[in-house]
Amino acid sequence: CGITGRIRSGNAVEDLMAGLENLEYRGYDSAGLAIQNGHGIDVLKCEGEADQLRRLVDQHRPSGSIGIGHTRWSTHGPPTDENAHPHTGMTDRVAVVHNGIIENYDVLREELKDRGHEFTSDTDTEVVPHLVEEFLDDGAEPFDAFMSAVDRLEGSYALAMIVEGTDAIFATRNGSPLVVGLADDGFFLASDVPAFIEFTDQVIYLENEDVAVLRPDSYGIFDRSATAVDRPVDTIEWSSEDAEKSGYDHYMLKEIHEQPASLNQTIHGRFDPTDESITLDDFEPGEFSDISRVEFVACGTSYHAALYGCHLLGQRGIPAYAHRAGEYASNPMPVDDETLVIGVTQSGETADTLESLRRLEDTPARTLALTNVIGSTAARETDDVLYIRAGPEIGVAATKTFSSQVTALALLSERLHRDITGEPSAHSSGLLQSLGALPEQIESILDSDPTAELTRKYQGMDAHFFIGRGIAHPVALEGALKFKEITYEHAEGFAAGQLKHGPLALVTPNTVVIAVFTGDHDEKTLNNVREVQARGASVIGIAPEDATEVAATVDDLIPIPSSTPELNGLLANVQLQLLSYHFANRLERSIDKPRNLAKSVTVE
Ligand code: G6P
Repeated sequence: CGITGRIRSGNAVEDLMAGLENLEYRGYDSAGLAIQNGHGIDVLKCEGEADQLRRLVDQHRPSGSIGIGHTRWSTHGPPTDENAHPHTGMTDRVAVVHNGIIENYDVLREELKDRGHEFTSDTDTEVVPHLVEEFLDDGAEPFDAFMSAVDRLEGSYALAMIVEGTDAIFATRNGSPLVVGLADDGFFLASDVPAFIEFTDQVIYLENEDVAVLRPDSYGIFDRSATAVDRPVDTIEWSSEDAEKSGYDHYMLKEIHEQPASLNQTIHGRFDPTDESITLDDFEPGEFSDISRVEFVACGTSYHAALYGCHLLGQRGIPAYAHRAGEYASNPMPVDDETLVIGVTQSGETADTLESLRRLEDTPARTLALTNVIGSTAARETDDVLYIRAGPEIGVAATKTFSSQVTALALLSERLHRDITGEPSAHSSGLLQSLGALPEQIESILDSDPTAELTRKYQGMDAHFFIGRGIAHPVALEGALKFKEITYEHAEGFAAGQLKHGPLALVTPNTVVIAVFTGDHDEKTLNNVREVQARGASVIGIAPEDATEVAATVDDLIPIPSSTPELNGLLANVQLQLLSYHFANRLERSIDKPRNLAKSVTVE
């Protein structure tokens, strides 16, 4: 879910609507806003995306300078008008927006019902305004009423509240992100910076249990005992244009095309191919010399980057395992002081990944966040952080951040090998030379983009299987994930050798198999290709342009420029991104906001 708020001169409506539109990647099941109108609070909310809300706004024309807004990704209750935020209590005196899950809401709800409160939604959120109302009725000031209500909550949340007759926004967080924007003429509040980046680049990231009070001319940040705390003001280094479509039909296509530039940022200043030195931010040489094992925790696309990282580390003799964070959070593995646990998370806010990392707090393991978002929760809660520097990614389907994650992991893997063994790995010079060439090679893929034509030939298939071996395996998994996310067609990724152990039963002439080749183990994968062809399936091969046997075997070839086998997977992935994009575009899908998904899932 996305939260937005603003308190400054002028009408709040346009700022809030702009914030909600910019935050839609966090959820788009419903949208709403609440505005202080001078006499009371206007609440407008509805099922659907922000443009539905815009219709309501145009009809009712609310006006006032203080307001909060919300775009929802449903957790408790379906996406209906009633379940849309903001929520109010028995009256419209208090309006609250919430991201996260209030775990004890059922107990609180029953308690409140016993005291005569009536509820109009299925949400966990609604208990909050009711609680606040009770404390106000008992004579508490809004700040104290907010504190007392928050005191009763268990779970993870970011909350923002306005109260009739009080020129302030009250906000707090525990587990879900919130950031305050400081403008010349007032203040903003949001789950994430894109909500207000067009107005200010000066931000304060709230920490867990911080309570922010934003007033027209001042702001205060307090801990839960109401003692003022100091939080640093950060400057955001990207501009609002970075978060706009710049003429592309979709953010996803724009972000695919940004990869040469974003990869240049990822690698900038981090290695020198001439003397093979690697400088990763603040990490001192030898810093990882005690590490003997790496464990990854991650979700979705980041999990596939982690699997890719396992191969890069394994090839350097460093044992590495990737865990799905949702599982790891419940079943953590034993770790010791030689274990480095890397949380791979673009947003740095994925609840499953954060929870996995938190499970390691009282262990001797060292934790590292590999993330794109400066100041994110993962960055702040881990021992170390390595930023992937991909720039803002708005499309729900991750593209450029995957490439940057893998590239950063390639450098980190090589760096770990040096720290542990004292010397470069056998792959070192090949990797560093090829990394330098990667942005240009991606550029050449983007210039030719041969995948669009294949969408016509392969439309209407029953199933799309993506296969690969070694590094091509996580690439195949990522290709299938992207494909299903944005086309809504059936797609699965398999280790190529695994097909014959079950999935082959599903292969028919109406199946298309997309086989990824990186120059390693290609012979064996070609055998698997022949196995599916023998069952009538057609095969699209993605392979280096010099892979003649692959070209002679598959039904259609999507070539990639030749790099090292370690990086060919990244180039193949760019072709897979384009393939999914063109399929989804032909099917007229909602590419940037696929149904039921959100970019950053801040609940477990
Ligand atoms: C959600 C998104 C995925 C993303 C995953 C992990 O499921 O829909 O696209 O890969 O979260 O996100 P993270 O921010 O942790 O990389």
